[in-house]
Amino acid sequence: MVNFEAQPVSPVFGAEITGMDLAVGIDDATFEALEEAFHAHGVLFFRGQSLLSADAQVGLARRLGPLHQHPAAPMDDADSAVFVIHAHRDSPVANGNGWHTDVSCDEEPPLATMLQIHQLPQGGGGDTLFADMEAAYRALPPEWRSQLKSLTARHESEHVYRGRYADRGVDDTDAIYPAAEHPVVRTHPDTGRPSIYVNRSFTTAIVGMEPDQSDELLNWLFNHVERPEFQIRFTWQQNDVALWDNRRLQHFAIWDYWPDERKGHRVSGRGTKPFFDPDAPEPPEPTIRLSIGALAARPGGS
Ligand code: SIN
Repeated sequence: MVNFEAQPVSPVFGAEITGMDLAVGIDDATFEALEEAFHAHGVLFFRGQSLLSADAQVGLARRLGPLHQHPAAPMDDADSAVFVIHAHRDSPVANGNGWHTDVSCDEEPPLATMLQIHQLPQGGGGDTLFADMEAAYRALPPEWRSQLKSLTARHESEHVYRGRYADRGVDDTDAIYPAAEHPVVRTHPDTGRPSIYVNRSFTTAIVGMEPDQSDELLNWLFNHVERPEFQIRFTWQQNDVALWDNRRLQHFAIWDYWPDERKGHRVSGRGTKPFFDPDAPEPPEPTIRLSIGALAARPGGS
């Protein structure tokens, strides 16, 4: 029986789900409706949840498909699919504290990520920003979209992960961190909608371009996709759960609460190799109009 409601949190994307307790079994019809809402909104926020055990969270994520194994992060002792998100006074970095799509350096980056925050910073803060890459794509003029569609980008992780979790006991002396090439515009495998697939954390170059030209274009794209028009900001309450689509969104976990502590569990589902389908229909009119001048400084743009 489907009895939840999805309330949009912005005109662009994201929805808050009410009337659902994730700790209680979800029947197939409800799960199907939830997947539909996930495809429609890109990120779902579940308020007022009870603490999910590692087993329960992994069980939920598994309903979306096989799980993704993180290439670098320390995983929970109880379940190797659970990535413990934890930042405190002695943390040298806080996870996700920069614009990124989860593990886009993998050949098959995660499809979705489910995060439950168990412990909030005492003094507030620790919000997460999300940005919609479909809206960022739609906001571009058609001739610019066409140019981007022919490009491939390199995503690397050595510079992100090497030594990153040393303080949490990870010895990565022998680790080889992944790198992959993905289309700059990807087609969503379930909805067929296009989105921009480059992010400031992992994307290092446009394949086949001179380094200067590649840096210039990537920087322009990073600045474009990070515009506030494409963003929402989620302020967590204890045990809230967010489920986001990595094929469509980027996110940024704000570390404004040091020296306070923030803790949670993250589980990701395994995705497929990103692709661009040239026959997929172009989206209709942009839903966001950028003011004149906002797009002017594009490198190589006319
Ligand atoms: C992440 O990037 O997965 C962490 C997000 C968060 O802690 O809010």
